[in-house]
Amino acid sequence: MKSFYLSTPYEPPTPPYPLPIKVPWALLGGISPQQFMQQHWHKKPLLVRGAIPAFALAKAAGEPLESPISASDLAVLAGHPDSESRLIQSKPWKMARGPFSRKSIPSISQANWTLLLQGADTLHPAAKTVLSWFRFIPDVRLDDLMISVAGPGGGVGPHVDSYDVFLIQMSGRRHWKISTQDDLSLKPNLPLKILAQFEPSQDWVLEPGDMLYLPPHVAHEGISLDAGCQTWSVGFRAASYRELLQEGLWRLAESLDALPTLDRRYQDPQQTATDQPDTLPPELVKQLRTHLKGLKLDSIDTMLPGIASYLSEPKPHAFFSSPDRPLSAKAFAQYLKQSPLHLHPHTRLMRLNETIFCNGENQTEGETLAVKLCWNVLSERHTLPPLGEENSAYLAEIAASNNSLYDAYCSGWLLMAGKNEESL
Ligand code: SIN
Ligand code: CO
Repeated sequence: MKSFYLSTPYEPPTPPYPLPIKVPWALLGGISPQQFMQQHWHKKPLLVRGAIPAFALAKAAGEPLESPISASDLAVLAGHPDSESRLIQSKPWKMARGPFSRKSIPSISQANWTLLLQGADTLHPAAKTVLSWFRFIPDVRLDDLMISVAGPGGGVGPHVDSYDVFLIQMSGRRHWKISTQDDLSLKPNLPLKILAQFEPSQDWVLEPGDMLYLPPHVAHEGISLDAGCQTWSVGFRAASYRELLQEGLWRLAESLDALPTLDRRYQDPQQTATDQPDTLPPELVKQLRTHLKGLKLDSIDTMLPGIASYLSEPKPHAFFSSPDRPLSAKAFAQYLKQSPLHLHPHTRLMRLNETIFCNGENQTEGETLAVKLCWNVLSERHTLPPLGEENSAYLAEIAASNNSLYDAYCSGWLLMAGKNEESL
């Protein structure tokens, strides 16, 4: 069957666990993740030739590799009702939002268009694997993997992002220009944010397998040089302090429901007759101050569970569906003995000390040791390998009653092996 393909699709390898963060990586141009974080992360760009060496090696051997996802498969994904895509035309600038029918996407040889597919990691296993290479950066910073596919001349114009981004060239060539300019004013009346002035100071043509890392606010423009040029952008978002504190405060306010002492009502047997009935009584202020002190609002530890819970929430458009015929808790434990459990591509996890939040909910509070251990493995590895005979005691605990792991499986947040693709 292989002879039908013009070239072989690249199969991204699953990285080792744990990630070797102290040794040099080809992906980072021969420096370690530790050095990358010290020298470049959130500071300065890095161009890496041959970040994925397989592309140059295959080319030298006369058997060039193609992107793991073909342009036509990307067009199919952009037609999926749950996908988030944009079609951008550059002469003149036009933008449309998906989902798109196959017909509405130009052929790859047509000039001056780009299709952007957001959240490709939730749509295709190869994109998810590429994303997993970057888990030397805290999950909390990760946004998604976006894929652009373009005709010659296609691009989104010169712009700045507030994201750290790794731009991996997966098919065809792209001409990148970057600028250190301070003038970030935009052209008026356009459907996308394009810099009014763009004065590039450096430029490179990226070949398949090359990668460019850009910290936020570096002006850049990438123009496709070939039909079907593909760039995979691994984007890292930072929430604003306002967003984090507001979300933490909302959840903290909700958590007061669980404090029975606050059900008590204000008591004022000592209230004297007042000639200022319109004024908030000083006694009320005094009592509130006492309660407020008890809440320890000035301690970050009070706020962190709410913030961690918020940061583990799935994206707003995420959709989960329960298994058609869920296993009983007992059969679920039997399954875990022999087979692995995976995260649904939209499921998010966040650890705060010993507590693990999944999709906004605390999964470890009040759970058995067995369930806590499983959540720990899931949080670290994003997969739970088969527990085997040696963990029979733990499996018995999981089988004994409903628990957060079983509930998460019943909610479709955790998937049995082979169910990933089905749910994409
Ligand atoms: C692209 O892939 O065309 C655009 C990515 C970016 O500039 O952030
Ligand atoms: Co950009």
